[in-house]
Amino acid sequence: MPGEVQFLDFDKRDYGLRALALDTWEKLIFVHPSHAPAQSLREWLGEVDANIAGGPLTSLTPSARFQAEVAVNWKVFSDAFCEAYHVGMIHRRGIAGSFISPANPHCHLAGIRLYRHHSIVSLLGGNPNHKPTPTELFVGKFGGGSYAKGINPERHPSWNFDTVNVFPNFGIYIGADFADSYNFWPIAADRTVWDVVIYQTTARNWSEAAAKNYFRVFVRDTLREDVNTTEATQQNLKAGIITRMPLSQQEVVLRHRYNVVERWLEGDR
Ligand SMILES: [Fe+2]
Repeated sequence: MPGEVQFLDFDKRDYGLRALALDTWEKLIFVHPSHAPAQSLREWLGEVDANIAGGPLTSLTPSARFQAEVAVNWKVFSDAFCEAYHVGMIHRRGIAGSFISPANPHCHLAGIRLYRHHSIVSLLGGNPNHKPTPTELFVGKFGGGSYAKGINPERHPSWNFDTVNVFPNFGIYIGADFADSYNFWPIAADRTVWDVVIYQTTARNWSEAAAKNYFRVFVRDTLREDVNTTEATQQNLKAGIITRMPLSQQEVVLRHRYNVVERWLEGDR
C-alpha cells in the first residue's frame, strides 16, 4: 500500500477480503452477497429442496461448461427455458422428433408445480414414431437412462426430465443420468452473460464415453437453437410497437415468474 502513513486511523485488517455466506446444495455451491442472509439456502429453496434433494444430482459431476454474452434482458432470456411450447418450432430440426408425438403434438408438459418463488415442470419424451439416426441408435444403446428418485412425481412413463427454476436467475434441468444448469447474469438491461454447465454420470467404458460425448454436443447444439431467437425477441420488445403478448397455459411458469418479479418490485418478498 503506497504512502500508508498518509491514511489516518487506518488499519489494514479493516479492509481485508469481505466474508460472504456460502452454502452447498446437492453438490452445487451458492454464494450470498451478504455476511449473514436472513434465510438459509435450504429455507430459500423450500419446496425445490423437498422435491429434488437426494435425487440424481448427487451422482453427477460437471462434464462441460460454456459461457456466452447475449444481447437480451436476463428475464426474456430465461423465459426461453421455462416452457416447452417452443420445442415444435425452435427445435424442429433437432429434439422435436423425439419429444413430440401424435399423442402430444404441442409438447405439453407432464406436470407443473408453482411455488412462492420457484417452479418445477416435467417434460415428456419418447415419441414411439421417432426414427432414430444411426448415431442416436448408438447413443441409445449405451447412454440410456432410468427413472430416478425425487423427480418425475407424476410417474409418467414417457418422462424425460424436470426443469427446476430457482428465482431469480438460476435453472437446472434434471434427468435420470444428466443435468444442465443455467445462470443468467444481467450485466445491463439488455445484456446477459449466460453460464451453462452440463453434469453427467461417469462413463464406465469407451462406448459410454462416446455416448456421453455425443450427448454434450447434442445439448450444446439444442441450446444454441434456444439462444438463436432471444436477441430478435429483445429487439422487437425494444421497438415498443408490440406492447402485449398472450401466453398459453403451457407458459404458466412465465406468468408466475413475472408475478414474482412484480411482487418483489412492490416490496412483497
Ligand atoms: Fe428450447
